[in-house]
Amino acid sequence: MSKRISYQVEGDVQGVNYRSWAAGEAKKLNVTGYAKNAEDGTVVGEAQGDASSLDKFVQHLNKGPSAASVNKVDQKEIGTKSGDSGFDRRSFTTSALSKQSAAQILRSLNGTISTTSAVRPAFICLQQQCTTATSRRNFSTSKPALMKEFFPPPNAPNIRTTEPAWAHPVYTFEQMEAVKVDHRNTKDWSDYVAISAMRVLRWGLDLATGYKHDKESPQGHALDSTKARPKTLMTEKKWMVRFVFLESVAGVPGMVAGMLRHLHSMRRMKRDNGWIETLLEESYNERMHLLTFLKMAEPGWFMRLMVLGAQGVFFNGMFISYLISPRTCHRFVGYLEEEAVLTYTRAIDDMDAGKLPLFEKTQAPDIAVKYWNMPEGHRTMRDLLLYIRADESKHREVNHTLGNLDQKNDPNPYVSTYKDEGKPHPVKDIQYQRPTGWERDEVIGSK
Ligand SMILES: [Fe+2]
Ligand SMILES: [Fe+2]
Repeated sequence: MSKRISYQVEGDVQGVNYRSWAAGEAKKLNVTGYAKNAEDGTVVGEAQGDASSLDKFVQHLNKGPSAASVNKVDQKEIGTKSGDSGFDRRSFTTSALSKQSAAQILRSLNGTISTTSAVRPAFICLQQQCTTATSRRNFSTSKPALMKEFFPPPNAPNIRTTEPAWAHPVYTFEQMEAVKVDHRNTKDWSDYVAISAMRVLRWGLDLATGYKHDKESPQGHALDSTKARPKTLMTEKKWMVRFVFLESVAGVPGMVAGMLRHLHSMRRMKRDNGWIETLLEESYNERMHLLTFLKMAEPGWFMRLMVLGAQGVFFNGMFISYLISPRTCHRFVGYLEEEAVLTYTRAIDDMDAGKLPLFEKTQAPDIAVKYWNMPEGHRTMRDLLLYIRADESKHREVNHTLGNLDQKNDPNPYVSTYKDEGKPHPVKDIQYQRPTGWERDEVIGSK
């Protein structure tokens, strides 16, 4: 005979994959119901099934997943209910919001939001709805029925954490604030081809993401909140669309170049001299940018289609181009990264001018805090944009530098040790900033 209990689990049970794990155990035992995080740090829920399955389920709740530490489980029998479709992992809806990342805030909107769509095709249907007593706002891109944690951690009972493959170098806030918009002048036909290709891509990106930065709107002071925002103003929603699209494209060149150099090295039976690692690390870093934004706003189907199309075209274009002229491709990426630095600088300026109030309330998601090792008290959206802009600035420098080198014979100056280590030279962090790249003579030396 079926019975139903309500339960409360105390201990270290939030942020350790407890609910997903409980849902997995419930499924194995044919138990229905739900689990959700409560404001007081416990996990609460209801479970329904036959008596022996429920007993086993409670035993499992007492154990918890490997990362959890359960102090006790309280349970009480309640009346059975019909209508459970399985075992849900529910979101919480309380003031615990203040402790959670943007993605977790987003999950709390479950069931209380409505879909809004822009006049422009919905690349991302970001929603901005007041949902709590504290009027906290955030975005989403999914219909309520589809709300879920975006790529939740895998349910692997024996694994505690999976560390990033490449640890991110440490940046200080002083160094990040010092990142500036800059441009390397074209010097030869190869540079000219690169900048022209970049301008075409930039035009396509602007068109696809509806990007139009309002240069006329006042910089440095807040907008009058009593007046409607100008139509041309970049809103939080528009910025997020741009970030997601930009980052989904940005991760391609490093991977293509790394892959081709890898194959080249094997085919020619020659050393690569350290380029592959830096190129793959760059594409990894770009993917982390993308995953960070995706934790905050999940793209709708149209955006996914656009990304798919852009990736297909861009990957193949880069593949052919890199075979023909790797030097031009690095210069092209250098110019593209100049634009990325400009984009993030404008977003930061807009935030500083008070034009993006929603961003001001947004915290960096956990994935970003871990990856960049963001210090306590420095985990706001602005801090996140500073880290990402600094990364783009590094890519700008790396690619301009690689574009200055002999593609076949020169070692990668970013993984080399120097005879005179005291002299400024290319490094992985942003200790020495050289936006237009290092010239070959400076790093390799003239023979
Ligand atoms: Fe990026
Ligand atoms: Fe980049």
